[in-house]
Amino acid sequence: MTDVVVVGIGADGWPGLGEAAREAVAKADVIAGSRRQLSLLPEMPADIVEWPSPLLPALRELLASGKRVCVLASGDPMHHGIGATIAKIIPSVRVIPHPSSVSLACARLGWPVESVTVVSMVGRPLSAVFAPGRRFIVLSEGSGSPAAVAEALQACGYDQSALTVLEQLGGPGERIGPIRDDLDPLNVVAVECVAADPLPIVPGLPDDAYDHDGQLTKREIRAVVMAFLQPNGLLWDVGGGAGSIAIEWMRADRSCRAVTVERDPERAARIAGNAGRLGVPTLKVVTGTAPHALAALDPPDAVFIGGGLTAEGVPETCWQALKPGGRLVATAVTVESETVLARWHKEKGGDLTRLSVSRAAPVGGFTGWRPAMPVTIWSTRKPQDFAT
Ligand SMILES: C[S@@+](CC[C@H](N)C(=O)[O-])C[C@H]1O[C@@H](n2cnc3c(N)ncnc32)[C@H](O)[C@@H]1O
Repeated sequence: MTDVVVVGIGADGWPGLGEAAREAVAKADVIAGSRRQLSLLPEMPADIVEWPSPLLPALRELLASGKRVCVLASGDPMHHGIGATIAKIIPSVRVIPHPSSVSLACARLGWPVESVTVVSMVGRPLSAVFAPGRRFIVLSEGSGSPAAVAEALQACGYDQSALTVLEQLGGPGERIGPIRDDLDPLNVVAVECVAADPLPIVPGLPDDAYDHDGQLTKREIRAVVMAFLQPNGLLWDVGGGAGSIAIEWMRADRSCRAVTVERDPERAARIAGNAGRLGVPTLKVVTGTAPHALAALDPPDAVFIGGGLTAEGVPETCWQALKPGGRLVATAVTVESETVLARWHKEKGGDLTRLSVSRAAPVGGFTGWRPAMPVTIWSTRKPQDFAT
């Protein structure tokens, strides 16, 4: 059985390793790591393996070799690191952590670690819902990441935020300061959010937070829809429009995922833009027509039908795919779509609600009520013991 140890190493290299970590490296038959990590070690008798790309097949082969393997990782191997991947393959793995870049950044800034939200830009776009006073530590992918963070802050009115780049933390080349031209690729970005006119963090963002062509579930209705949906897990947002339901679902919690299906390519492109700007760029946008476009999607924990209710097979497909215990919420403004909801409500139960919203607007020199079309909302839950 392969003896595997994962050793966290910092920018302070070999001198920064403790006794146990040095011993684990020195005793290994094979030492594996990135070129940068391996370059931090003194001459060793072991075989040295630099990670190829893709990493996973090489890792599996190495872990099955029966040799004493030492894998190097940056900082804390169990924090956005290779340690967690290895622990899944070899549960008996021994992990020797080094302070993570997050711990070092918080130490330099005087921030309690528990006061920060950590997000990674390594191999993925920045996903961060900014809110006044919220602190983020962003794990950069390279020297361009700090500028991408600044751009994301600017795009949603947070350009007054304090942004600090912390390079080569713990090493001889450590530098802490604002964005510069010659940033080291090894850096993290610390952000303390400040905005003059912040968006709310609860559902029901103002309509003008979205780029839209009028196909948008309006703010007041959206807030009620979100209350019925109760964000948790994976959402299908059928008939995405501007993407507001899927976006607010994902903003509710970092664990929430969503896929939105929109038949109009121009709107689909707009949804992606809205999602990026509002901090949830990993929203999956499918350009296609329901129900066909739903066929290849993972089963959802909840479904919202905001468009396509009267299309043949849309509610049936959604209901079939929904996980037992999941919620289905649908809105209707036409007599035809209301008829569909009435039928489904009769068959499956749940709440049928009708909302009429009027907004005050100028009428000559006075103020009058401008009514929007009433919206019918059906909300139900699939039984836990649903079998067919
Ligand atoms: C009222 S809008 C939904 C608004 C959306 N909930 C929002 O807040 O942005 C309805 C959308 O459903 C889309 N749609 C209608 N039928 C569809 C179908 N069968 N498949 C996919 N999209 C559909 C329309 O193109 C339109 O963009």
